[in-house]
Amino acid sequence: MKKLFYLFILISLPAAVHAQSGRSVLDFDQNWTFNLGDVANGQNVDFKDANWRKLNLPHDWGIEGEFKKENPTTVEGGALPGGIGWYRKTFTIPKTDKGKLIYIAFDGVYQKSDVWINGHHLGYRPNGYISFRYDLTPYLNDNGKKNVISVKVDNSLQPNTRWYSGSGIYRHVWLISTNKIAVNHWGTFVTTPKVSASHADVNLSVSIKNAAGNTKLATVVSSIYANGKVVASKTLRGVSLRDTVTTVSQKFGVNNPVLWSVNKPFLYKVQTKILVNNAVVDQYETPLGIRYFNFNADKGFSLNGVYMKINGVCQHHDLGALGTAFNVHALERQFKILKEMGVNAIRTSHNPPAPQFLDLADRMGLIIMDEAFDVWQVHKRPQFDSHLFFKEWHKRDLTDQILRDRNHPSVMIWSIGNEIPEQRDTSATRIARELAGIIHELDTTRPITTGNNEPGPGNKIVESGAVDLLGYNYHNDKLASFQKDYPGKKFIGTETASALESRGVYNTSPDTIQRWPGGMVVDGKRVARPMNADHTVNAYDNISAPWGHTHEETLKIYKKHAFLSGQFVWTGFDYIGEPWPYQWPSRSSYFGIVDLAGFPKDVYYLYQSEWTNKTVLHLLPHWNWQAGKVVDVWAYYSNADEVELFLNGKSLGTKSKQGDSLHIAWKVNYEPGTLKAVSRKNGKVVLTKEVKTAGAPARIELSADRSSIRSNDHDLSFITVKIVDKNGIMVPNANNDVKFKLSGADSFLAGVDNGSQTSHESFKADHRKAFNGLALAIIGAKNKPGTVTITATADGLTSASLPITIK
Ligand code: GAL
Repeated sequence: MKKLFYLFILISLPAAVHAQSGRSVLDFDQNWTFNLGDVANGQNVDFKDANWRKLNLPHDWGIEGEFKKENPTTVEGGALPGGIGWYRKTFTIPKTDKGKLIYIAFDGVYQKSDVWINGHHLGYRPNGYISFRYDLTPYLNDNGKKNVISVKVDNSLQPNTRWYSGSGIYRHVWLISTNKIAVNHWGTFVTTPKVSASHADVNLSVSIKNAAGNTKLATVVSSIYANGKVVASKTLRGVSLRDTVTTVSQKFGVNNPVLWSVNKPFLYKVQTKILVNNAVVDQYETPLGIRYFNFNADKGFSLNGVYMKINGVCQHHDLGALGTAFNVHALERQFKILKEMGVNAIRTSHNPPAPQFLDLADRMGLIIMDEAFDVWQVHKRPQFDSHLFFKEWHKRDLTDQILRDRNHPSVMIWSIGNEIPEQRDTSATRIARELAGIIHELDTTRPITTGNNEPGPGNKIVESGAVDLLGYNYHNDKLASFQKDYPGKKFIGTETASALESRGVYNTSPDTIQRWPGGMVVDGKRVARPMNADHTVNAYDNISAPWGHTHEETLKIYKKHAFLSGQFVWTGFDYIGEPWPYQWPSRSSYFGIVDLAGFPKDVYYLYQSEWTNKTVLHLLPHWNWQAGKVVDVWAYYSNADEVELFLNGKSLGTKSKQGDSLHIAWKVNYEPGTLKAVSRKNGKVVLTKEVKTAGAPARIELSADRSSIRSNDHDLSFITVKIVDKNGIMVPNANNDVKFKLSGADSFLAGVDNGSQTSHESFKADHRKAFNGLALAIIGAKNKPGTVTITATADGLTSASLPITIK
């Protein structure tokens, strides 16, 4: 077991600091046993679990299951199994922990977990997204005797959610030991009440738990570090720790602070030491980013005094082929892909994220809307969704979320709910005010919002006065009059677009099998529209769900009005479940700007051309068509005045975006060869882009997002598999079944995917069909260094191999 510093897990390992600190945080993910299905008395110490499967956490049993139409989760829940699962782990407590307080901390268990230690029931937690811990101390056997933790997870009552939830202990677990005097659970709160370029005031409050049984006098020393150097420090002596928890405050000044921003997310840290009789009894770290931000009713959002748009996306919590089993490296890849596209903000729809999600957002520079609930007391899925436990648990759940997350500089908005049905019900007044009150007791530094799909007057949540930021989901038609409708109110686009696309699909004459339910929105108009028989959505159809709007319409309107502080597009990545408008065999969503495997769809480059300073020129579609077909050719571009299109060397004309248009288009009579776009600024060539007609699939090409990964049991390398012709041109409709083999260093295939919404192949198989020329294989590191080589083979194709170093 590795010792890891709690708030910087997987990021830094200050083992030496740790040893003297009086606190240890052990990675408790290894060596669990698991049984899918209910058992009687699984909590008993002498229960025989020798035949159970051995595994390491985080674990999602749903993703290992089979896609089935009959699965009670339904396609909305990903058509994967739910059920009941049991986990057990046997462990001993090191002698050095004698006399200490020992806790088990779960970052998240979906859902309805019961936890026992040595047969003693520690607690039940229905919310599948909340982090919680239990005190094991009174029930532990020490002196090297064995202890047994048992966890029952019940996700059997389905459907209980509108997206794929995953099942099991799907986030990390920690074993924490502290002295009897220690910083309380989530016991610090750091704020920056006054910040300027020359100076920042920093306030820290520290809650200290005293379980020693008598009053102690303590000294509290807190120091702010920048790049390993102390920049401010405060000592408080003679703190009388009488009661169970005592809270003290310390105030600091930091001169010439380096401000946290999305482009330069500079992080300080605060180290707090508690000393009793001159000995350090606890040492605790709190992340600190110094920044200030504001929402203005006329001018929108500013960060550190600079106005900017929030260019955000909504994200569900699954990680594609890994399911919901949390992996910080997979999340880091998602964040990188999104940041490259110009995303500067994420909404954690519709639940609290893994704690490491916020560590990463702090480190990578993303603004977070941290959301609590999709449902309050009125259900969305009548029988089994979280309305069942809202009444009893909302206070505890929301309190824990705020205490856990309030030190993260990335978190700038709390959302207390998404499309809450109570918008239309007078009970909203009471509930919204109560939820806002819970937050205000713990944090007054961030605005509160809700995602409203009922934006008109009469929305009871808005009427309650509980929200600081008025959040609209969709309803672009109501945006222009917002300031008139809600004078003085501040605005955020909590959820926008819901536009649809499959990667690499450009059918121009789909087979009509049925009408889209409710019609579609095309160029601002609601129209009936045929569905593609193969359950795909064409890339340049530019369509959205009827309650949503196309990407282009949405970008235009948010660009136009300064008071619109920004938006969160539904969604950044495709997610498992909610394949609207399709039913089975579809099982994952079409709303993503990036597909489930992490391959950008064409519209990614539209955002890149609008949301970044990068010079973009993106041409679609591919160039493999039937002779004589008239093909719509589109280009997204930026930092240029015009684009000229050539087919086999012959100019098809020069175009530039007119008015507020965001792309240019040509109609081209297809002939095979090379389609070339050239963008120019002031007459000088800026970029050239070519799309060539591909021949038959000839070979496989492999490339890795990271060619060197760490031997830490968690690290991953994502391998892109491309099917190319003999000249190296991607074959745009290739669907060859590619088989993977790993050789060399100890490692495993963590998942495979291709981004298709309808594939029923297992994410855990050792092969995958390409979808429109691409597939993905994910290599997982174990704990030994070496080199692993992945070899990809397919019938009739030249195979490929790629070495990955595990350090
Ligand atoms: C919204 C909802 C999201 C998702 C989306 C799909 O109304 O808030 O969770 O369902 O629709 O378009």
